[in-house]
Parts: sequence; structure tokens; C-alpha cells
Amino acid sequence: RLPRSDASHSGELGVQTIGVIGAGLMGNGIAHVAAASGYKVILSDVSSDRTEAAKATIAKNLARGLTKGTIDEATIAAILARITLTTDTAAFVAADLVIEAATENEAIKVKIFAELSPKLRAETLLATNTSSISITRLAAATDRPDRFTGLHFFNPVPVMQLIEIIPGLATSAETTAAMHRFVAALGKTGIESEDRPAFIVNRILCPMLNEAIFALGDGLGSVVDIDMGMKLGANHPMGPLALADFVGLDTLFSILQVMQATTGDSKYRPAPLLVKYVEAGWLGRKSGRGFYDYS
Ligand code: CAA
Ligand code: NAD
Repeated sequence: RLPRSDASHSGELGVQTIGVIGAGLMGNGIAHVAAASGYKVILSDVSSDRTEAAKATIAKNLARGLTKGTIDEATIAAILARITLTTDTAAFVAADLVIEAATENEAIKVKIFAELSPKLRAETLLATNTSSISITRLAAATDRPDRFTGLHFFNPVPVMQLIEIIPGLATSAETTAAMHRFVAALGKTGIESEDRPAFIVNRILCPMLNEAIFALGDGLGSVVDIDMGMKLGANHPMGPLALADFVGLDTLFSILQVMQATTGDSKYRPAPLLVKYVEAGWLGRKSGRGFYDYS
């Protein structure tokens, strides 16, 4: 998809500036697509090393289009110029919508929202990119649960077409409608999910990834054969073990823990091999080692 013109976004919904909290895998992708769609973006993380690394990743991903002729240097420069970096959440006073994409840990997210809310303008909308945690509970940590939704992007954000929109118990119909318009303005397709653990896609996908890790741990087949089996036998673009590495094994582990804890259903228990890998710090692509070696 061609990025839009480099003019500032005209602002359907009155949203012109997007704040993104957390500049990891997902935060850099969300900042990328928002800026490419004409929004101004403020991107934050706990250190400037992380925000700068995220901007370098965005530049690298935008440059993929140069050889294909789908983007030119001037457009890339204009997109990057719309992204400002910060480690100070006071900067989000300028944001019309803030999307939180920090580590999948409820205590971290609650702290972020509790500290952030009083710094925002009253009309600013809030969203979380959580993969599994209760939207209603996160909304309750803010001063504006009616203006809060789940906005669940997929990895890699510039490529994946879907965004799940998850209203919490207190979310107003206006806020949900505004999120549908925002998703459309990003050129993505929105689906609505009830606020249940892991929502629609991860409810189905994560147990499959976990099952592949159980299968590996049981000695059913090798890493290569399990992945080849699902690629060629089920036409998945990536095998489940490669996809688990791609998502991040710590993130997958957290999602399964939330699913198991909140439903009480043991079918969601994380595979012992997944637990071991996370304990070893083998988190997949982001740490250089998971089921595959990326070093
Ligand atoms: N950022 C930006 N663009 C990227 C990219 C990235 N990280 N990775 C690939 N691309 C682009 C490429 O430039 C290329 O673009 P064009 O079509 O314009 O040429 C396109 O994506 C395809 O890339 P490649 O040919 O290099 O690679 P591929 O064909 O192997 O596709 C893939 C790569 C898109 C990642 C594909 O393997 C795929 O779809 N994998 C499955 C992804 C998936 O299931 N994601 C969901 C994970 S679950 C989740 O996100 C939710 C959660 O809460 C955990
Ligand atoms: P990640 O580990 O790549 O990045 C998380 C970032 O959050 C890190 O840079 C970390 O420094 C930052 N962070 C931690 N505490 C912070 C704080 N207090 N303030 C600001 N930044 C802070 O993780 P990710 O894969 O980008 O996941 C982010 C969120 O997106 C999680 O909720 C995850 O469940 C969700 N998600 C992940 C995927 C995926 O495939 N990885 C897909 C969809 C949604």
C-alpha cells in the first residue's frame, strides 16, 4: 500500500496527533503506520536508546519499498519527520489519541495509565494494544474509562491488515465508533471483539502455537519438521515455532498465563518447554535465540 501524501492528516475524528507508549516490536510498527497515514506521532519508551532504535527500525522498514519503487526518499523523510521521540509522558498533552504498546504485564500497564491520565487533555482518547489483558480492568486504572478501548494490532504492523477493536464495559458508543474510523483511516480492517481473555485471534492462535511447543517437547517431530508440516500441510505463511519466535516467547507466555488464570481452564497452561525457554532468556527473534538461532 502506498503511503498517503506527506500533508498533515486532515483529522477525521479530530485526531491529528497519536501518542504511542512503548517503542518495541509493536510500538515501532504502530508509529510507522500512523505516520505513513499522515498523523503526527509522539513515540515514547523508558530510554532514548529504545526510541532511537525504534525510529531506525521504522526507517529500515520504510526503505523496503525503495527497490520496489513503491516509495521515494522524500516521502520516507516526510514520514520520519512526523515522528518525535520522548521519554517524558508529559509530551502526550499534545496527543488526541494515546495507544499503549508496552510490555505485556498488567502491573506495568496499570502504572502507565494511572500516571499518564492526569497529564492528558480531557478529550484525549486512550487505547491499549494488549494481547490478552482485560480492557475493562485497564480502563478502570484511568480517569476516562468511557474514552478507552482495546486496539489490537498484528505483527508486523505495516503488513498485517487486521486491527481488533475491543470496547470495555464502560466504553462509550462514540469512542468505539471513533476507533472504527481511525482503523479505516490507517487503511486497515477492523473487527470487534468482546472483552474476554485474548480476544478473537489470540484465543484461537495462541493455543495452536502452544500446542506446537508441547509437540516439540513431546518429541513428536523436529523444529524444522513441525514448522514445515504446518507451512505445507496447512498453508500457514510461517510455521508455528517460527511464529512463536516472531511474536516473542515472553509475550506468548504472558498471554497464555492470562488465558489460564482468567478462565481457570488448564487447556491454556503454557507448555513446559516454553516456560524453560523464557526462564533461559531465549525469547525468540528479539533476543537472538528461540527455537531458531538469529545471531
Ligand atoms: N515490517 C514491514 N514490512 C515487512 C516486514 C516488517 N517487519 N516484514 C515483511 N515486510 C513486508 C515486505 O517488505 C514485503 O512487502 P511487499 O509485499 O510490499 O513486497 C512483505 O512484507 C512480504 O515480506 P517478505 O517477502 O520478505 O516475507 P514473507 O513473504 O515471508 O512474509 C510475513 C513475511 C508477512 C511476516 C509472513 O511470513 C507472515 O504473514 N507471517 C505470519 C504473521 C502473523 O501471523 N502475524 C500475527 C502474529 S500474532 C499477533 O500479532 C497478535 C499477538 O497479540 C501476539
Ligand atoms: P516488546 O518487548 O518488543 O516491547 C515492549 C516495549 O515496552 C519495550 O521497548 C519496553 O522498554 C517498553 N516499556 C516497558 N515498560 C514501559 C514503560 N513504563 N513506559 C514505556 N515503555 C515501556 O513487546 P511487543 O511485542 O512490542 O509488545 C507490546 C504490546 O503489544 C504487548 O502488550 C503485547 O502483548 C502486544 N502485542 C504483541 C504482539 C507481538 O506479536 N509481539 C502482537 C500484538 C500485540
